[in-house]
Amino acid sequence: MKLLFIGDVVGSPGRDMVKEYLPKLKEKYHPHFIIVNGENAAAGKGITEKIYKQFLEWGAHVVTMGNHTWDKKEIFEFIDDAKYIIRPANFPEGTPGKGMVFIQANGKEIAIINLQGRTFLPAIDDPFQKADELITEAKKRTNIIFIDFHAEATSEKQALGWYVDGRATAVVGTHTHVQTADERILPLGTAYITDVGMTGPYDGILGMERDAVIRRFLTALPVRFEVPKNGRAQLSAVLLTIDEKDGKAKKLERIQINEERPFFG
Ligand SMILES: [Fe+2]
Repeated sequence: MKLLFIGDVVGSPGRDMVKEYLPKLKEKYHPHFIIVNGENAAAGKGITEKIYKQFLEWGAHVVTMGNHTWDKKEIFEFIDDAKYIIRPANFPEGTPGKGMVFIQANGKEIAIINLQGRTFLPAIDDPFQKADELITEAKKRTNIIFIDFHAEATSEKQALGWYVDGRATAVVGTHTHVQTADERILPLGTAYITDVGMTGPYDGILGMERDAVIRRFLTALPVRFEVPKNGRAQLSAVLLTIDEKDGKAKKLERIQINEERPFFG
């Protein structure tokens, strides 16, 4: 069984890449599950209901979020009714939305969990304890468990990967927007990558107008960051092959599409 995960979609350049390449990726890899991280999908921060629905229309089964979950205020209007969007599960008790969802394909069920790190990010609840709790809950229904760990620090991501090795099918990192080349299957069968990378502008800095980012470093003054409207774009993803008998990962492959690494169908 295969699962395609598309890393942080940034603004309209990112959404255009998903629209263009998701059909091609489906045709090439035939994934049973498609997950998209959409926390930067609306102009670089947050998501709207329209964009969430577009992702589902284009073929995503689930949209995961992160520290920018609440940046577009309309999310409070629709998150509780939107079945297939999950926000970090370790937000405090009582936060709108949910952090885990189950979906079915091929007569199999998969649990998808979104967690957020606490190193260099707001101090929310403990993602490790929350992982324990949700894995226990998910195991009552399925042994296929996929975790999007939205975190800044490589060490925290590695720690969670090793912590759940053998208990989750995969831990993929998001948030830092640059794809890391450390994909592997840990000894007890959990697939791991520190960051899937982002889907959006190719010539910006982490998906934002680079002049503004450089100006901030030069002047240390507050600068407004925006997603560049034009220019080259990229898509970053991973393809996970799962042994559906025991929920272990068999293979994790990185995917990058940009002008220098063109897609071949
Ligand atoms: Fe983020």
